[in-house]
Amino acid sequence: MKLFVYHTPELTPTDARPDCAVVIDVLRATTTIATALHNGAEAVQAFSDIQKLLHVSEQWPAEKRLRAGERGGKPVEGCDMGNSPLFCTAERVAGRRLFLSTTNGTRALKRVETAPIVITAAQVNRQVAVDFLQAQQPETVWLVGSGWEGAYSLEDTACAGAIALLCYQRDPNCLGNDETLGAIALYQQWQQDLVGLFQRASHGQRMLRLGLDADLSYCANTDSLDALPLQTDLGVLQLAKV
Ligand code: MLT
Repeated sequence: MKLFVYHTPELTPTDARPDCAVVIDVLRATTTIATALHNGAEAVQAFSDIQKLLHVSEQWPAEKRLRAGERGGKPVEGCDMGNSPLFCTAERVAGRRLFLSTTNGTRALKRVETAPIVITAAQVNRQVAVDFLQAQQPETVWLVGSGWEGAYSLEDTACAGAIALLCYQRDPNCLGNDETLGAIALYQQWQQDLVGLFQRASHGQRMLRLGLDADLSYCANTDSLDALPLQTDLGVLQLAKV
């Protein structure tokens, strides 16, 4: 198994496809996805286009859907919620499909959706993502950060490093590119103070300006959930049976 870290979807090769793509958007899309599925959501369906989300979700009875839209860290008008994982309580999401569109995370998913295996990871479900990779042993794995509108995000690359570190400890030959070792080093530098890292990150500072301190702390809870979102249809993520 060879791991390749790409800091943003735009940096992934356009002439190749991995055996497994791991989409990472720690603040907050992939944390929200893991939390919603952990709390009983039937599925999370990702949309890069909010109008398409609104149109497709119309086909679902209101009591069986939740529309989650975020742009710039703020909720989108016409949706039931923004993109806060803390909003995804069992009471709200159990048995429902979460229709999700965010600034970057759902766009990253779109970029890699044709890979044979697509999972999503964040700090909250890092271990179960590593366990899946170790069990499946895909030959090539892309760890894809979502970034922010094409720019680098510290938190996503650090999470890629958190995943790669556990893989590297089991197989030192798993490094596929320099970015992977760089991500490991970043995570090792901050693993004892992820909240501190997130508070210094550009999107973390945006979240603090929006009063989303509790979300930021929640997203830093490493290995707190054993939920692994797996793509079961284009753009549709459901709990993997691990
Ligand atoms: C993203 O897609 O970039 C994030 O999830 C934005 C957010 O929810 O704060």
